[in-house]
Amino acid sequence: MKATSKPKPLTKEEKELVKAKKQQRSARVRLNIAQRKIAKIARSTEDNDIAEKAAESLPETYAVQEKPSQTVLFEPNPGPQTNFLAAPEREVLYGGAAGGGKTYSLIVDPLRYCNNSNMNALILRRTNDELREIIHKSQEIYPQAYPGAKWMEKKSQWTFPSGARIWMTYLEQEKDVLRYQGQAFTYIGFDELTQYPTPYAWDYLRSRLRTADPSLPVYMRGTTNPGGPGHGWVKKMFIDPAPANKAFWATDITTGETLRYPKHHSKADQPLFKRRFIPAKLADNPFLYNQGDYEAMLLSLPETQRRQLLEGSWDVAEGAAFSEFDRKYHVTDVFTIPDNWRKFRACDYGYSSYSAVLWFAVDPATEQLVVYREMYVSKYTAKDLAFAILDAERSDGQISYGVLDSSCWHKRGDTGPSLAEQMISVGCRWRPADRSKGSRVAGKNELHRRLQVDEISENAGLVIFNNCVNLIAQLPVLPLDKSNSEDVDTKAEDHLYDALRYGIMTRPRSKSIFDYDPAAMPRKWTPADRVFGY
Ligand SMILES: Nc1ncnc2c1ncn2[C@@H]1O[C@H](COP(=O)(O)OP(=O)(O)OP(=O)(O)O)[C@@H](O)[C@H]1O
Ligand SMILES: [Mg+2]
Repeated sequence: MKATSKPKPLTKEEKELVKAKKQQRSARVRLNIAQRKIAKIARSTEDNDIAEKAAESLPETYAVQEKPSQTVLFEPNPGPQTNFLAAPEREVLYGGAAGGGKTYSLIVDPLRYCNNSNMNALILRRTNDELREIIHKSQEIYPQAYPGAKWMEKKSQWTFPSGARIWMTYLEQEKDVLRYQGQAFTYIGFDELTQYPTPYAWDYLRSRLRTADPSLPVYMRGTTNPGGPGHGWVKKMFIDPAPANKAFWATDITTGETLRYPKHHSKADQPLFKRRFIPAKLADNPFLYNQGDYEAMLLSLPETQRRQLLEGSWDVAEGAAFSEFDRKYHVTDVFTIPDNWRKFRACDYGYSSYSAVLWFAVDPATEQLVVYREMYVSKYTAKDLAFAILDAERSDGQISYGVLDSSCWHKRGDTGPSLAEQMISVGCRWRPADRSKGSRVAGKNELHRRLQVDEISENAGLVIFNNCVNLIAQLPVLPLDKSNSEDVDTKAEDHLYDALRYGIMTRPRSKSIFDYDPAAMPRKWTPADRVFGY
């Protein structure tokens, strides 16, 4: 057996070479780890300072020794403004006190993606005059952030050297959203969202939110003060479903149910997307708060405005038509309506907006009116609505009568008969509601009378079952018409109010023994002669 030769001991130089190679290997491993860290941070954060953060986490030998000097154009205020700009949810509302820095954030938000040619943003205000304020502010920031960024007045659009675009425009009439048909946006921002009386524009524009570029997130942002014609729906969409600052799955604001992927979709029944409400306070914006004058000015406002604009409160509605509405007196737990109470229903029909139906019962002891059911549905044809109504009242007993928006006798469906006739033909009977001149104002006054609370009995003339969630949410925040304080703002969501008005204007009375009129009773045909049968 051949003996193995003993290895030659290493020279001093060779030992040093081995040591150096070992160090090189471990340095490569550390560099590799550092690079993976950079990639991980870049994936997990939307922060633009990724390189800087990663550099801090590098081993000293690889860290960048000198940071290039830079001018900071914008730094979010700590708290809500930072949270708003970092929010990952699809739809976020930044709402509350005046001067919190909301509009400013809305303008700055899309800037971070303006180095991408596929970026196409839309920023909206209700009127052109209001839009000027936004354009003016953007002119201070945009060209500094991206030298070469150009404002094109004619198109009302910013274009950036990369090809990215930010369109700043106004949307006065909700039907004008059709202007955006066929367009695709990666970012949509609404300033003063409560200026929009209904969610129509917000919902429509959600369908314009898309991109084929996976590196670009798509999202919608709204900023606003509380109050205004859209206070009610904005509150329902963003404030009522979850505590402030907490993300939640988007809900249908009429039913309160989570929006889900439709059946037959690969993600069938999974929730669609998340929303979040971030409250704003003046104190969050040191640029205004530290001066103190602005706060003093807000403190001097009448209570409702002060609570909305200084405290950012959503529980008080400025210019609410029925500010006397109080859950304590006007909302009641559900109870079984006794059989001898007179029942009737009222309806305001709409196909593309909403159809509102309310069912009433009259308490014979007090003549108090009880709204015991609501139906608030969209995209129902007249016949579908009639069937849904008949189905809902199947076990209600006798419904004495129904009143329906009188215009339904003029509007025709595609098959010929009027909408009212179509409903009546399937057994859902109606008579026309009073829509004569002055009936709107009279109806409003009558509702005020009904809402009055009797000092002794503490009973109001009208109570609503607590399962009528839409009516309870809408009625207290229904705004007055700015140009005619005798009426409500007809641009606000008022379908349920109209149905309520039609109902109470029938001057309902309970059934009493004096109502018994044998002559009016339906007579059954009986043969005069039982033998011959005629
Ligand atoms: N992060 C910031 N850096 C510098 N200035 C800021 C910042 N945030 C807000 N500001 C300043 O505060 C001013 C008021 O902010 P902004 O107009 O956005 O408030 P707002 O919440 O929209 O107020 P309003 O409720 O009245 O519409 C801005 O014009 C801007 O000058
Ligand atoms: Mg603003």
